[in-house]
Amino acid sequence: MTAGVKPSRLNEMARTVQDRQANVLCAFYTHSDPIRNYMMSRLSLSDGLSVLEPACGDGAFVEALHSTGFRMTIWCLDKDPAALDRLHERFGQTVRVHRADTILSPLKGGSGLLARNGFPERFDRIVGNPPYGGWLDYETRAALKKAFPNFHVRETYALFILRCFELLNNGGVLSFIVPDTFLTVGAHRPLREILLKSSELMEVITLPSKLFPGVAFGYSGLCIITLRKPFARPDSKHKFRLISVHLAEELTALAGGVDAGISVTVLQRQILQRPDMRIWASAEPEIESVLHAAKLRLGDVAECKTGIYTGDNRRFIRSIAGSPVRGEYYSSLPASDVCDRSLSEGEKARGISALEAWIPIVKGGSHRFVQKTSWVLDWSVSAIAFYRSDTKARFQNSDFYFREGLGVPMVTSTRINAFLIEQRVFDQSVVGIFPKRQEWLWPLLVILNCSFATKLLKEGINPTANNSANYLKKIPLPNLTHEELRHLGAIGRLIARKRRAGLNTDAEEQAANEQVAELYQRGNLPTMQGTWLDAHSSDGNTPLFPCLRERPHPYESKRRGRSRSAP
Ligand SMILES: C[S@@+](CC[C@H](N)C(=O)[O-])C[C@H]1O[C@@H](n2cnc3c(N)ncnc32)[C@H](O)[C@@H]1O
Repeated sequence: MTAGVKPSRLNEMARTVQDRQANVLCAFYTHSDPIRNYMMSRLSLSDGLSVLEPACGDGAFVEALHSTGFRMTIWCLDKDPAALDRLHERFGQTVRVHRADTILSPLKGGSGLLARNGFPERFDRIVGNPPYGGWLDYETRAALKKAFPNFHVRETYALFILRCFELLNNGGVLSFIVPDTFLTVGAHRPLREILLKSSELMEVITLPSKLFPGVAFGYSGLCIITLRKPFARPDSKHKFRLISVHLAEELTALAGGVDAGISVTVLQRQILQRPDMRIWASAEPEIESVLHAAKLRLGDVAECKTGIYTGDNRRFIRSIAGSPVRGEYYSSLPASDVCDRSLSEGEKARGISALEAWIPIVKGGSHRFVQKTSWVLDWSVSAIAFYRSDTKARFQNSDFYFREGLGVPMVTSTRINAFLIEQRVFDQSVVGIFPKRQEWLWPLLVILNCSFATKLLKEGINPTANNSANYLKKIPLPNLTHEELRHLGAIGRLIARKRRAGLNTDAEEQAANEQVAELYQRGNLPTMQGTWLDAHSSDGNTPLFPCLRERPHPYESKRRGRSRSAP
């Protein structure tokens, strides 16, 4: 024991070192039979094969490979010497092991690390659970960026997929368990493009992270991807199955050749033509067909923007006393202190001349159609000077503050909740949606609140809990005539009016849901004239509200470059 340090403190220090170690190396070992057995079943194993485990840890997959009974040569790499010692203890000479950084070491070629250690240049099978989400020091991140330009290097598992795909023999098969984010997020598009153009995906399973013992990510699920390296290019008729499983028993059934989970078979070539090549499919054919056929998306008819971050919300944001807000993070203030008059153009741009001036602000939360003002923001001259100059603050997309628009919370639970912004400032927990024409505000409010739009977003575009502006922009819209737009607008007004009066709107929302689903699924309109399709011809960056065209907003973000690119 270390003199002078309490045992509890020592335990804490030891745990911190272990956590840190786990965080750097991502040493979450795959001690799950359903997962391992499923992966073994997809590798088409047989005697005589060479198999690589590129981040072997203490050998969870080596154990599974041995248990198949086939006589294969198993090669293992890992950069953690302690894990390799344990592997040696467990499996002795039955495996060939080398300590290496699988993604940064030069592996291939005569002078490469593999050849120098008697490893083959390529392998028939590769299996594993590569590290993900680990902490990277500055040097490692810089080296990875240099070695893998254009790729998202923060999630090292993606680099493992790339690296190991190179190490596969033609006709070889790889099976990895990794987070499911690479299937859909924009940053991983280059990886998807390589996989879809050069490999044949055999099966993609998505599963909740809680099925992996000891892991439960809030932000994403897991995916088991199995792919084959073709001898030439992938067959243009190649199809694969996307299967969503929720229970370990479903994996066990699949491993035993029994169908389980919800599955969709897709043509690989078709995924290449999807927006951003997202490898995701809905089990509902109507969602799939709308996604494929979509000609018009939310981003074509509206600007989707993220709002302000004050840099110090505790100081600059208050809740209004008596409003139903959760937590005690924010101080509250009486409703009588809220400045709810209209501001002059000068006040909107430069702030109100007062020590403190509290104006309504829109924040996230599960509101639909209307959001009562529960929050206020300091809009005094000095507060605005702070938002513009503080390094943490983001006075972004300020041209869109005080405008009519719709808010969609950045973090959603199960469905999209859209509400009117009503000329308030909005913060970065909300994506502000600003239709390019005033008359589209109400129909969009109805469409976004319908379950069909949620399914398009969650099942086709982005299944994670985060609705960034970039994802929302991609929601397909139905082709509508002016008449239909007007009709949906009237429903939106009615629901908003009733909700403001505290009345139940279940019947109206249900009817709107059905109508919108029908509009999405009908074929093309007999004529394209008079629809909002002519929005395509307008300049996407020009606000179409007449008042803004006549008098552009006089202020701009303090960090012009960043604010322009920030959606
Ligand atoms: C998630 S664990 C998986 C271990 C094992 N495959 C399993 O499934 O039980 C990830 C492993 O990758 C190793 N690792 C992390 N970064 C690595 C790198 N750049 N090169 C090789 N191994 C690495 C860690 O030491 C750890 O053993």
